[in-house]
Amino acid sequence: MKAKKEVLKTGEKIAIREATLSDAQNLVDYYNQLFAETNNFTRGKEDAPLVLESEIAHLKSQQNSRNAMIIATLNNQIIGHAVINEKSSKAKLKHRCEFSIGVLKEHWGKGIAGKMMVEIIALASHMGFEQIDLVVLKSNERALKLYQSFGFEPTGTIMHSFKMEDGHYEDGVFMTKFLNIKGIKV
Ligand SMILES: CC(C)(COP(=O)(O)OP(=O)(O)OC[C@H]1O[C@@H](n2cnc3c(N)ncnc32)[C@H](O)[C@@H]1OP(=O)(O)O)[C@@H](O)C(=O)NCCC(=O)NCCS
Repeated sequence: MKAKKEVLKTGEKIAIREATLSDAQNLVDYYNQLFAETNNFTRGKEDAPLVLESEIAHLKSQQNSRNAMIIATLNNQIIGHAVINEKSSKAKLKHRCEFSIGVLKEHWGKGIAGKMMVEIIALASHMGFEQIDLVVLKSNERALKLYQSFGFEPTGTIMHSFKMEDGHYEDGVFMTKFLNIKGIKV
């Protein structure tokens, strides 16, 4: 994907581009802040923080035609990310990819996730995936609204998807967006 410059409704200028190995330290700092700010990811503040070495290894493992990560930057700091990962390389599953997205809390509601969604959906389609799958907590209204507005459809419920630190359970919604399939609107 070609790097893009975008102007937010706040007037702030951000860049959206694919992540590279040189972003590793910035990504570690970004993820550690993001995971401390929200309970919506499997990784949270209760888990060990990310470290540079494992992030470099992870980024290297993602540098292929079946995985992609884009980031949003403001003044060269990472403030958002979106990833697609192949579900599996097995023949029966290789038409599917999985998706995740995040934006630092102080930048929510500025349209940053929406701008990254446009790019990551185009990338997934270009990479030949037929569908994008994700799981979102039922309580995550902001993300549910975002996904619905980009054509993701709810296809099932994962009961007790997360068990939170205080012992209560959160159900997950399985959502899918179909791409490239004849007869299905992208
Ligand atoms: C979910 C998340 C990525 C949204 O990021 P964002 O940059 O605030 O989203 P945007 O501003 O681009 O909003 C895009 C669209 O989502 C919807 N949306 C966003 N905030 C909303 C809200 N508070 N109420 C209803 N809809 C909302 C709207 O349709 C919005 O379009 P609009 O601004 O034209 O109305 C962000 O809140 C986040 O990182 N949350 C924590 C991590 C997370 O939950 N990730 C998803 C895990 S499944």
